[in-house]
Amino acid sequence: MWKPPQRIKFAARLGRVPSREEAAASRLFSPIRLGPITLEQRSWVPAMVPWRATEAGFVTDEVVDWYRRFARGRPGAIVVEATGIRDVPSGPLLRIGHDRFLPGLRRLVETVRQESRGHTRLLIQLIDFLVIRRRPDPGAFFRRFLVLTDRHREALGGGLDDEIRERLAMLPEAELPRILAPRELEALRFGYRERVTDMKREHIRRLPETLPDLFAAAAARAREAGFDGVELHYAHAYTMASFLSATNTRPDGYGGSREHRVRLPLEVYHRVRRRVGGDFAIGCRFLAEECVAGGSTREDAVYFGREFASAGMDFLSTSRGGKFDDAKQPAIGAAAYPYTGPSGYECMPQYLSDETGPFGRNAAATAEIRAAIRAAGFATPVVCSGGVHNFEMAEAMLAQGVCDIIGAARQSLADPDWFRKLALGEGRMIRLCQYTNYCEGLDQNHKPVTCQLWDRTGLDAPGVRLTADGKRRLVAPDWEPAGEESC
Ligand SMILES: Cc1cc2nc3c(=O)[nH]c(=O)nc-3n(C[C@H](O)[C@H](O)[C@H](O)COP(=O)(O)O)c2cc1C
Ligand code: SF4
Repeated sequence: MWKPPQRIKFAARLGRVPSREEAAASRLFSPIRLGPITLEQRSWVPAMVPWRATEAGFVTDEVVDWYRRFARGRPGAIVVEATGIRDVPSGPLLRIGHDRFLPGLRRLVETVRQESRGHTRLLIQLIDFLVIRRRPDPGAFFRRFLVLTDRHREALGGGLDDEIRERLAMLPEAELPRILAPRELEALRFGYRERVTDMKREHIRRLPETLPDLFAAAAARAREAGFDGVELHYAHAYTMASFLSATNTRPDGYGGSREHRVRLPLEVYHRVRRRVGGDFAIGCRFLAEECVAGGSTREDAVYFGREFASAGMDFLSTSRGGKFDDAKQPAIGAAAYPYTGPSGYECMPQYLSDETGPFGRNAAATAEIRAAIRAAGFATPVVCSGGVHNFEMAEAMLAQGVCDIIGAARQSLADPDWFRKLALGEGRMIRLCQYTNYCEGLDQNHKPVTCQLWDRTGLDAPGVRLTADGKRRLVAPDWEPAGEESC
């Protein structure tokens, strides 16, 4: 992963730990309504893909264990990882594009209900993404994948197609930008990647027709499985974020101006709402800043936030960056990954940072979005994540109006009980995330995600499930409070 050149070291700190009474009176442990549902406390475990689904996208025992473990910490809400809404193969990513996925998802919901003793609300993140291919071997690219055009033929002086392909394959790297179109060059260097602006492709042109129903059907299944709500994934490098992006130049009324870019995300929301009704929570995750050259800015996000709130969304969750635009070149045979460049750093900032540091990196932008939503007369709750890891910080963010709910992804992975420990006055027992991004490295390599702070401990304890190589445990060791508990 890219790191800021300043390489300033930051360390997470426990900060002031509240007593049980102080926690009970705090903002963090006060309830909040999300449209039709109520969170008992303002703690939120954002979506994290743990790479535990089957190749066909089904819930496994390991998926259930992963969420069971978070549920034991009893946060206000857990958002289940990005889950594909189409009925197409997408590797070991969870899917919800067909009714056959329902039994597994139901089991997941029941487990979280049981394990949190009904204290935690469960949402699921719904995602659509476009095709991305692995970086090809150059020989195979020129001999098989590249579609020859007159541009290539003319540049190489004509001849049979096979000869042209051979000549292309032999050209020095420096010559290629003169002969290949920019997208061909990108396909060679990074792997082919579809964009929402590829209007010559029918399925891309028709996305505004197809996506609302796909999202609505997925949300209806989520409701049927027993979830409390859905989070529409409008963030990072995926289809809906690409519609919102300032780089979206579609000429069909769904690109260009902010008003046009927000059109499909709003249409998706309205179709989902019509399908699932008013008593099911619907919100979205979107970018407070895209953090790439030519991308959407904070001002765009302020506009989008107001539009989403005014449309009636029940919550808004902000993230930042995580784009393909500045991703690192992958190795041959690997796919580009949207968290490897500077915008990826903004999304999951680690302990080596710049003057701003990794903690609360999305706070200023989120505060602006929330203030604009409030100024427009909407009370829509806003979730902010990014380096939040202690009580003092969470309380300050809530007190200062940065957000209404505290999202903590990696801190919850490091210690799934951290909210519960705070609530019980046991904050000293918290295992603090070190923001090394070891977990993110596993995610990048599509390996089961674990935390370095606990994945090598107690491997031989009874009932502990391990990775296939037997080297890492898959969930954090259990923790039980010492005395009687009434929380
Ligand atoms: C392993 C891993 C997987 C993630 N998967 C998702 C995801 O499925 N959807 C999403 O919106 N964000 C995802 N994220 C981003 C987190 O939700 C969160 O925004 C980010 O880690 C910053 O918050 P934090 O500092 O509290 O970790 C993932 C993060 C990690 C570390
Ligand atoms: S591996 Fe653990 S300590 Fe390191 S960033 Fe991830 S959650 Fe934090």
